[in-house]
Amino acid sequence: MTDHKIVRAALIGEPVDRPPFWLMRQAGRFLPEYREVRASVGSFLDLCLSPDLATEVTLQPLRRFDMDAAILFADILIIPYALGQDVRFVEGEGPKLEPIRDLKGIEQLDLGNAAGRWQPIIETVRRLSNQLPEEKTLIGFAGAPWTVATYMVEGGSSKDYSVIKTWAYRNPQEFSALIDILIEKTIAYLLDQARAGADVLQLFDTWAGVLAPSERRRWVIEPAKQIVRAIRAEFPEIPIIGFPRGIGTAMMEYVNATEITGLSLDTSVDQKLAKREFGERVALQGNLDPHILLAGGPNLTATVREIVSALGPDRFVFNLGHGILPTTPISHVEEVVSTLKSWRYA
Ligand code: CP3
Repeated sequence: MTDHKIVRAALIGEPVDRPPFWLMRQAGRFLPEYREVRASVGSFLDLCLSPDLATEVTLQPLRRFDMDAAILFADILIIPYALGQDVRFVEGEGPKLEPIRDLKGIEQLDLGNAAGRWQPIIETVRRLSNQLPEEKTLIGFAGAPWTVATYMVEGGSSKDYSVIKTWAYRNPQEFSALIDILIEKTIAYLLDQARAGADVLQLFDTWAGVLAPSERRRWVIEPAKQIVRAIRAEFPEIPIIGFPRGIGTAMMEYVNATEITGLSLDTSVDQKLAKREFGERVALQGNLDPHILLAGGPNLTATVREIVSALGPDRFVFNLGHGILPTTPISHVEEVVSTLKSWRYA
């Protein structure tokens, strides 16, 4: 029996006749219809927490480009928000959080009400699951504990991760209390998404690459392993994609230890090498440089072809190596979509 959802089919190793695709951050500011909805609400969080609007913007890229998958419209900072931390998105500056830097800050997190506070997101998943055509894959997601913790501790985006690294390296016992809370809540949040109808889950560890090897084992690989194991205990079949951005040669260790279904390759990863090293063990997703997409021209289609030739046909989902940039011309996305839709695997 073949899976009608071609993104999920590719992830679980079923044959597909062309490369399935979706794009990280496919719903967002590069779309005029997104900017219109965004302008109608006060804050970005209000948008994420409105099932009506979040459902609408999730579906926008599917209407325009007929993507093979929808990714839930939300943000990785929903978990800190749900834990009662003050989270704001400041226009042009990115996220701002009231930073947590000691045990006292950890103790102030409101663990009891988190699931209630993320319920609007789960309602969005439920609606999407009911509305999507049978052949479209619904992707749920969460930020991985380390990456979410960087925002919680640094108070927003960071240049050098100095505050969180110093804390984690100097006082791992104390810092692990925060990571343990995030592991537990990430599991609960992803399970809620799966129960509401998500077909696939992705774990975004955008800042995995800033850690030294022993620290990476403890704060990136071990948490991902626990999260995968806990989700599989209830949903043995659900494909889980990991995105341990920037960890280079440690991807093999990540794949082996976590037993993740799919590995999302970042922009820097050589496709042929990835296929050779990981292709037998895991489905691969990726990894067009968002700046190549932005730049366009003959190099764009040539690179798309190169990526599909190297990573396809088995267990491959085309994507970007990181999120789409807000200034990306729509025509460039159309060009990629048309190349992928007309592709036929021999
Ligand atoms: O289309 C999709 O992919 C679904 C929605 C989605 C968003 N954020 C919406 C968003 C997803 C999957 C994310 C993940 C996310 N958020 C990550 C991991 C992936 C990655 O890109 O590395 C990270 C690190 C964040 C944190 C975050 N959220 C930052 C740093 C920012 C500000 C920078 C920016 O791009 O504006 C956000 C805001 C955000 N998240 C926006 C969107 C559409 C822009 C907010 C706006 O519309 O003003």
